[in-house]
Amino acid sequence: MSVQEASGKVCIITGSNTGIGFQAAKKMASMGYDVIIACRSEERGKAAEKKIKENIESAKVEFMQLDLASTASIYKFVDNFHATGKPLHVLCNNAGVVPGTGTECRQETEDGFEMAFGVNHLGHFLLTNLLLNDLKKAAEETGEARIVVTTSSMHDADYYLAAASAANLDFENLMLSKEGTFGGSLAYNNSKLANVLFTYELARRLEGSGVTCNCFHPGFIPDTEIFRNVGWIYKVLIVYLRPLYNLLGIATSSESAGDSMVFLSTDESMKGTTSKYFNGIKEATSSKVSYDMETAAKLWKISEELLHLGDK
Ligand SMILES: NC(=O)c1ccc[n+]([C@@H]2O[C@H](COP(=O)([O-])OP(=O)(O)OC[C@H]3O[C@@H](n4cnc5c(N)ncnc54)[C@H](OP(=O)(O)O)[C@@H]3O)[C@@H](O)[C@H]2O)c1
Repeated sequence: MSVQEASGKVCIITGSNTGIGFQAAKKMASMGYDVIIACRSEERGKAAEKKIKENIESAKVEFMQLDLASTASIYKFVDNFHATGKPLHVLCNNAGVVPGTGTECRQETEDGFEMAFGVNHLGHFLLTNLLLNDLKKAAEETGEARIVVTTSSMHDADYYLAAASAANLDFENLMLSKEGTFGGSLAYNNSKLANVLFTYELARRLEGSGVTCNCFHPGFIPDTEIFRNVGWIYKVLIVYLRPLYNLLGIATSSESAGDSMVFLSTDESMKGTTSKYFNGIKEATSSKVSYDMETAAKLWKISEELLHLGDK
């Protein structure tokens, strides 16, 4: 692995107080990156910042509050980031939420979007668009800038584990608000498909800018907190069978998944690579529908409309 010169480079990682994002933040800090821990809880964010600084004496890590379930918070985060005067070389859209399973588990963001679609897709869509000029400027000055999106193999309707709640973006019901249509797994899988469509559409829009955009499936990592809202049966399956998953080589660790994120964000060999889907760090094929350019363009337009981006 050939790592690029990190000195003076700035990286924002969403959802980096725990799980995969935390591991990536720690590693990026150890490599000399100036890391912004962008997460919603001040207490958890500051604790993560402290933990990294305790481990790495020279670490440049700073918590900045960002709640992706609130457009007001996203605008505030971007204003606060701009106030620091820092450039931006790497943006990792990593935060994610898996809703509970039953219809009663449907929740909405502050702006009335279904929670998984709102946080996992729309929140990152807005954040990225508000930071695009920063990334383009860094690319002009240093030759490149990178966006890395954490998606999931669950985005793929043909993946056997996703089949029961296969991703299906119904543009008339993106918020799964029509009676009887909400399911936690469906909401999550849809949001992860939106992550892939967003990656490809953004990469097309960024052609020639020096800013690349790729997404990756980090693996199955039972030791993160992502399964906190799922029903007890799933929890039991995940917790009690963890040693078996490890034995069978099905599970990976958050550290290893964090390493994948760091590789895609920093490795010299990835320079210029854009519009790709990775399984860990191995290039892979995403779902059939994720390559549909019309669907990606439609999702982009609707996301802009929902967020009133064209109005600004
Ligand atoms: N673990 C797996 O097996 C797996 C598999 C495939 C893909 N992924 C993806 O990997 C990514 C990271 O997940 P993880 O496994 O590391 O889970 P995790 O430990 O639960 O971390 C998720 C992070 O997202 C943050 N987050 C949730 N809602 C947010 C909001 N409204 N605003 C800002 N941040 C928010 C969480 O903050 P709080 O701590 O404050 O809640 C946390 O920092 C997700 O995108 C997930 O979809 C995970």
